[in-house]
Formats: sequence, structure tokens, C-alpha cells
Amino acid sequence: MTQPDFSLAGKVALITGASRGIGEAIARCYAQAGATVILTARSDESLKDAVATIIQEGGQAMGIAAHSGDPAAVKKAIQNVESTFGGLDILVNNAATNPHYGPILAADDGVWDKILDINVKGYARWIRESAPLMDKRGGGKIINVASILGLGAGPSMGLYSVSKAAVLMLTEALAVELAQQNIQVNALAPGFIKTRFSSALWQDPAGETQLTQRIPQRRVGETEELTGLALFLASPASSFTTGSTFVCDGGHTAGRFKL
Ligand SMILES: NC(=O)c1ccc[n+]([C@@H]2O[C@H](COP(=O)([O-])OP(=O)(O)OC[C@H]3O[C@@H](n4cnc5c(N)ncnc54)[C@H](OP(=O)(O)O)[C@@H]3O)[C@@H](O)[C@H]2O)c1
Repeated sequence: MTQPDFSLAGKVALITGASRGIGEAIARCYAQAGATVILTARSDESLKDAVATIIQEGGQAMGIAAHSGDPAAVKKAIQNVESTFGGLDILVNNAATNPHYGPILAADDGVWDKILDINVKGYARWIRESAPLMDKRGGGKIINVASILGLGAGPSMGLYSVSKAAVLMLTEALAVELAQQNIQVNALAPGFIKTRFSSALWQDPAGETQLTQRIPQRRVGETEELTGLALFLASPASSFTTGSTFVCDGGHTAGRFKL
């Protein structure tokens, strides 16, 4: 029996929101698997350390500043990737925001516009520019980082949950639309992972204990614990996997019904 192929040798991968946290961990993992990685975030300055770390580890990496909410910046970034590397094989949509903590009905139109523009339209924007390059290469992989809060409503995180549920449907709809181009589109739904994004929930020990009591594994995850799934979804091993959501949450979703 042949072994599954998890190599990314010769592949070009772009990871949005890769200056820190989950995006940085995925970029490091892909570089170690042989891909040339392009890291994006809002500024060149914030990308410097993550790019330098990957190069120090023997990988090939470049940073491109591009705000996911700016269509012209996204277009220019993808043009830059094509002219520098000749194409693109893998896109990880990971940059997201949560500008609102509280009831959905307390959010005004500006807050709605901001969260949907980055978390949903931003993902679609990167895919719109990337898919034609993948098509030229005969196929590709798109991984949308969603959240378990797209599968169920989080307390005071309802608006963010709405945006992440939209990411799951964007994933399914585009998986169907791009299947004939041999582009596989899947979603990764993390539970609580220790990053700056989630720091309000785990920073003080009392908050962390309260949170981890609801997680069957009784802890928050580390960014490296997501990279195995992210690698599978970017690699030839996932060639017949598309339109699916992969949860990584220490059992949080499975244990959500408290009797
Ligand atoms: N941490 C968790 O518990 C958790 C759980 C479920 C899902 N997620 C999801 O995982 C993804 C990554 O989260 P994280 O926890 O790794 O967050 P993080 O550590 O705060 O990192 C966010 C990254 O996104 C970049 N970014 C933010 N806004 C951007 C924009 N408008 N345009 C371009 N880049 C932008 C940031 O870079 P700059 O600030 O330098 O621009 C940074 O690189 C998000 O989609 C989040 O919803 C996280």
C-alpha cells in the first residue's frame, strides 16, 4: 500500500494573518513541509519576525503587507505572488477580527460592516484573486480558518458566530463551484487556542479555569496542535476531501450539552 503524501515540496502557499498566532504556526509548518510561503498581515513591520524565523529554520518565506479589507491591496498581493513565484497552489484564509463583544442587537451597522467585510468578504476576496492562479496550475487547495463558534453561538460572541457560520457556507458553496477545477476548499474550525486574539478569555487564571471547565480536555489548545490538520488539507493526501469542516477543539463541541 502506498503511504499518503503529506509533502508540500515545490508548492507556493499564501497564509493571511500570519504575523503571529495560528497563521504563523501554519506558515512555519508548510515551510517545513517544503512549500515556499507568503505571509500577509496589515504591515511589513509586523511580518518581519515571523518571516525571519522561517528563513532561520531553513524555509523559504516572504512577507506582503495587505489589509484583507482592501480589494486593491489583495489584488496587488496576488499579482506580486504570480510575478515573483510564477503561481499559487495553496491559500489559507486566516486573518479575521472581532470588533464586538456583547449582544448582537447592540451592534450598529458599522460594526456589522467591519466584521463581515474582513471575516467573510475578505476571505472571498482572497479566493477570487487566487483561484485563477490555481486553475492555471491544474488545481489547488483553499483552507478557510473558521471557528467552533460558527457551529454554535458563543456567549457575547453572537456576531462573530454569524461571521464564522458564513465562512462555513462559503466553504461549502465554493467547494462545489471549484470542484471541476480540481480546487479543494475546506474549513478548519478551531476551539479555544492560546493566541493574542483569545487572550481576554485565558489571560487571568480565573477566566482560564472557567473556560477550561467547559472543555473535556480541560485546557486551551496550542497553535501547533492545528497544524497537522492544516497540512493534511493543503497536501495531496486530501485530494478527495472538499467542502468539509474539520474541528480541533479538545472535545469542546462534542461536550457542549450540559445536562
Ligand atoms: N485563537 C482562538 O482561540 C481562535 C479560535 C477559533 C478561531 N480562531 C480564528 O483563527 C484565526 C487566527 O486567529 P489568531 O487567534 O491566530 O489571531 P491573532 O493571533 O490575533 O492573529 C491574527 C492575525 O491576523 C492579522 N490581521 C488581523 N486583521 C487583519 C486584516 N484586516 N488584514 C490582514 N491581516 C489581519 C494579524 O496581523 P496584524 O495585526 O499584524 O495585521 C495577525 O497576523 C482567525 O480567523 C480567528 O477567528 C481563533
